[in-house]
Amino acid sequence: MLDVGCGAGIFSIEFMMKNKHLKINHLVLCDIDENALANSFQNIVYYKEMFNLDKITIIKSNLLKDLPFKFKNYFDVVLANMPQTPSKQRIRSKLLIEIGDKHGGLLGIELYCELFEDLTKFTKTEFKTYIL
Ligand SMILES: C[S@@+](CC[C@H](N)C(=O)[O-])C[C@H]1O[C@@H](n2cnc3c(N)ncnc32)[C@H](O)[C@@H]1O
Repeated sequence: MLDVGCGAGIFSIEFMMKNKHLKINHLVLCDIDENALANSFQNIVYYKEMFNLDKITIIKSNLLKDLPFKFKNYFDVVLANMPQTPSKQRIRSKLLIEIGDKHGGLLGIELYCELFEDLTKFTKTEFKTYIL
């Protein structure tokens, strides 16, 4: 399972609480913000036993751009709760880091559009995406 823009890992924790029957072999958490990654690691490790996880990987990544090649066609569940506050500026690609992580660009959907352009490179043929 992949959690994109994982923040403090709350979406993954909530998802796993509600789907205790699932066996998640490997949870990959990624975010552009290093502080968020540190928090998510602490939170997920805290719940690790309860949720039957074998493996956790934490990666600093701008959307999926920095995910290693080994994750190509790897995931069958993807979670994403990305910034969605509309703004007057485009934020695609190069401007993401300069502008910050609070909004989702024009109409608030730019991050999601960019995410979906690359998503199937990293998913299996059949996969489920849960978006907040
Ligand atoms: C609204 S918070 C949600 C956090 C978490 N998913 C949750 O549901 O609690 C959005 C997160 O997306 C991250 N983010 C923003 N832009 C990003 C990008 N380009 N790539 C990866 N993560 C990003 C932020 O750092 C932040 O942690």
